[in-house]
Parts: sequence; structure tokens; C-alpha cells
Amino acid sequence: MHEILDQLSERRNVARLGGGQQRINAQHGRGKLTARERLSLMLDEGSFDEFDMFVEHRCTDFGMQESKIPGDGVVTGWGTINGRCVFVFAKDFTVFGGSLSETHAQKITKIQDMALKNRAPIIGLFDAGGARIQEGVAALGGYGEVFKRNVMASGVIPQISVIMGPCAGGDVYSPAMTDFIFMVRDTSYMFVTGPDVVKTVTNETVTAEQLGGASIHTTKSSIADGAFENDVECLLQVRRLMDYLPMNNTAGAPAMKAFQESTEIDESLDTLIPDNPNKPYDMKELVLKTVDEGDFFEIQPDFAKNIITGFGRIDGRSVGIVANQPMVLAGVLDSDASRKAARFVRFCDCFNIPIITFVDVPGFLPGTAQEYGGLIKHGAKLLFAYSEATVPLITVITRKAYGGAYDVMASKHIGGDINYAWPTAEIAVMGPKGAAEILYRSDLSDPDKIAKRIKEYETRFANPFIAAERGYIDEVIMPHSTRRRVARGLDMLRNKSLDRPWRKHNNIPL
Ligand code: HXC
Repeated sequence: MHEILDQLSERRNVARLGGGQQRINAQHGRGKLTARERLSLMLDEGSFDEFDMFVEHRCTDFGMQESKIPGDGVVTGWGTINGRCVFVFAKDFTVFGGSLSETHAQKITKIQDMALKNRAPIIGLFDAGGARIQEGVAALGGYGEVFKRNVMASGVIPQISVIMGPCAGGDVYSPAMTDFIFMVRDTSYMFVTGPDVVKTVTNETVTAEQLGGASIHTTKSSIADGAFENDVECLLQVRRLMDYLPMNNTAGAPAMKAFQESTEIDESLDTLIPDNPNKPYDMKELVLKTVDEGDFFEIQPDFAKNIITGFGRIDGRSVGIVANQPMVLAGVLDSDASRKAARFVRFCDCFNIPIITFVDVPGFLPGTAQEYGGLIKHGAKLLFAYSEATVPLITVITRKAYGGAYDVMASKHIGGDINYAWPTAEIAVMGPKGAAEILYRSDLSDPDKIAKRIKEYETRFANPFIAAERGYIDEVIMPHSTRRRVARGLDMLRNKSLDRPWRKHNNIPL
């Protein structure tokens, strides 16, 4: 009997070594942890249960029958994060560069199926070179199976991808269909094909970092939602993100203990808005003073900084925050900001996370660059996302809410449940100067006359009361009571229920 147990231990030890000590050393030498080290850091201590440790590939081409490694380049199983079940897979770069074979794919799809059946989140740690070249179409077929399951799970269970090494082909397309992508700075890359293939096909010389490093995907392409200094920091942030998310689309977000009363007022907010309407202020201050303990998890902090998106809690329950940022491009809505916020709003709506929207927006960004880039369609994404949302929507206009952007930013007309404005709000078709110059073009040559017209427009429209007279704004509130008002609103909206007409699915302007 003991002999059998010893044999099992021995087989496990071999499997745990993956591609061998030399390759593990190389992995460490690049500043990367191994697949198992990563899982043990991300999951609660001792909670990882592994499946399919002895699976091997079945390929016989290119001499592959001589090199079989138990586990076949991916470690799969389940564990817990702060006591909540998650299904996981981690690519093992020490085994054929983490590339995906037919059996490797089967290990992943088994985990995907289990996660979906048990309605629990799935987290993939990627460090892999895509389809295993030696397996050809068997590997491509395997990816197809993974992709299909990514889509089936979308909007049902949260799916998170963490990019922790050079990733290509299917190892970027599968993450692209998940909810959030995190990267590790300087050691992780995402590209459809790597620098060598790029050189061969286009004769372009480019480094991995220039082609698909974290610096590119968090600032230019917006494919990644966050980048962190090293494996440890990145995995700890995945744990933090998970605490905001529900297990699935019917479970509701986890309730934490709040250490700050939501009845607290914050007098400093009464002076947040500068006297000069063209002077910026930091909207993050309002965000941090609204959420519990100032704890805010920002999504895509380095992309389209003119809009802020992220998670916080109010009275211990998760909320999504969307806020224009007057510090960047005056908080204008452009294509990038619209796409960023639309995707975030849709995630929150999928998973029943209420959305708080803070508005200070001078409108959509004019100009050929934006129009040629599809501003109309990108702006429509945000309009569409808010309009289709059925989660509680609470909106607070702090200052400008001009033009179409007023409608888009969770206005009453498209479904805002509670729409507040601070007394400093200005709700109009456009700013007083622009409006007067169009309405009184003939007065343009006379500075005194036009100044008078601007003043007239300002007095009439640069306030929240015309909207409040019509009920478009439910109440003009004191800035210092924002947290209390929002918390009470969320309480009142807890059982919100909205029916939509049956349809197969909508046709959001992609
Ligand atoms: C088999 C692979 C592999 C692959 C890497 N390896 N990628 N083996 N299939 N796809 C092996 C290497 O041979 C090497 O083995 C080990 O993994 C480490 O790879 P290196 O190249 O030495 O590492 P590095 O220099 O860090 O470069 C990593 C890389 C590069 C950027 C990922 O290996 C690369 O470009 N690989 C090919 C990427 C690719 O084009 N994949 C196919 C995508 S198509 P040894 O034994 O020497 O250690 C695809 C289809 C899906 O995925 C469908 C999408 C819609």
C-alpha cells in the first residue's frame, strides 16, 4: 500500500516540476513566478484543489511522442478568494511555452464548464504562445471550444484574465472576450503575432513592449484594464477586484462590513466647485468622499482619463462609479471615453451592480479627428448602454451638463432613477458663450452687447432649476450630503425591477 502512495507522490512531484527545474529557473530569472506559485498567491492559503494533473498531449508529429509532460502546460482547478469559490487555470510557460494542445484545451474547457454549471467566477492566468504549432488544427479546434465557452459564460459569471508573460494568438483572443484583463508591467505582452512574425510579414522591426506591452494596452489600445508592477502585486489586485464582484448574474454583489457611516456629511464638498466655471477640479475627490472609507478600485485608470470608471462600496455594497473628470480635456466625452464608460456600464448591468454617475461634461468633443474616428457610433454606445441598463441608476450633476452629453450621462430621460443636481449645476444645450454667439451673431462685433447676452443666457440657464421645475432633476442637493443622499437612494432602489420587451438580443452599435 505504502508503495502505491509513494508512487502517487512521486508522480505528483514530477508533474509539479512542469518543464523542469532549468526552465523554472529561467522563468524566475525573467522576474516571473510559475503557474503553481501564482495560483497559491492568488487563492486563499491551502484552498487550491487541482484537476487533471496527469493529462498529457496525444500528438505524435514532429517527434512529440518523445516529449510528454504531465499536465501539458496548464494547471487547472478551483479554490477560494476570501472564502468565495473561483475556478482557475494557469498557463505553464515552462511546458512548450504554455502553448495550447487538444488535451490542454480540454482541461480548460472542463473548468469553464464547471464554473458555468456552478455559477462561480473563472480566472485565467496567461503566459503562453497560443496554439501548439506541432498540433495544427487540433489546437485551433481546442481554441474554438474555449472561445465558445467564453461567450456562453459572458454576462452569467465574471471572467477575469491576467496576462503574466508573452501571450499570442488564442491566448489573447480568449482574454479579449472576458470581462477584465490585467497585465504585469515589463514582463507581459499581448499580440496576435509576436515581433518575429511581424518582422517576417511586414518587415517592421518592433520590440515586444512596443507591440503589446502593458504600457501600450493600458494607454493606447485600452485592451487591458489595469497594469501592475509585478506578479505578486497583480495577483493581490485580482483578489481585491473579486471582492467587488458577485458570483454570478443572479447572486448580487457581496456585502462587506462598512466602517464609515453613510449618514456622515462632508462639508469640504461645498467648496469643491471653483467659482470660475472654466477652472477644473478633481472629480476623484468627490468619488473618494462618496464611497465607503475612500476605497475605490479604478478600471482603466490610464486610458481616456477624461472619464473615471471603477468600483466602490456604499453601506458595504458594491457600486459602479462613472464620472466625468474636469481635470482632463475639461471632462469632455470623446470616442475613447464613451467606449470605456459604455463597457463598464454594461458590465455593471450584467451583474446587477448599481451605477452612480457624477456629471460635469461640456459636451461631445468636436472636430474631424473625432468624427472620422466614429464619435457618433462610439458616443451612441454609452447612450445605448445607459438606456438598456436595468440596475439602479443614481446621477448627480455637479456642474456642467451640456447638450447631448446631458442626455447620455444617465439622465432622467434614458432611465435615471434618481437624478440629483448640486446648486452649482448648469444644464443647457451649450455653454453661455457658445449659445450667445450663435443666437446673437449680429452682436458679435460689439463686445459689450455680446457680454450682456452671455450674462442673460447664464442667468437663465446656468443653473439646475429649469430642469428641476420640469422634474428632470428630482432634487437640488447640498454637496456635503451627497454620500447620504446616494446611500439612501440605493436603499430605496434595492428591489428595483424593470421588464423589457422580449427580444433575442439587442443590437448595440459596436
Ligand atoms: C509550440 C511553442 C509555441 C507554440 C512557444 N513555444 N510558442 N511551442 N507552439 N505556439 C515554445 C518554444 O519553442 C520554446 O520551446 C518555448 O516555448 C519558449 O518560447 P521562446 O520563443 O523561447 O520564448 P520567448 O522568446 O519568450 O517568446 C515567446 C513568444 C514566442 C513571443 C510567445 O515563442 C512566439 O512568438 N511564439 C509563437 C506565437 C504564435 O504565433 N503562436 C500561434 C498563434 S495562432 P523550447 O523547447 O525552446 O523551450 C493561434 C490560433 C488561435 O493561437 C486562433 C486565434 C483566433
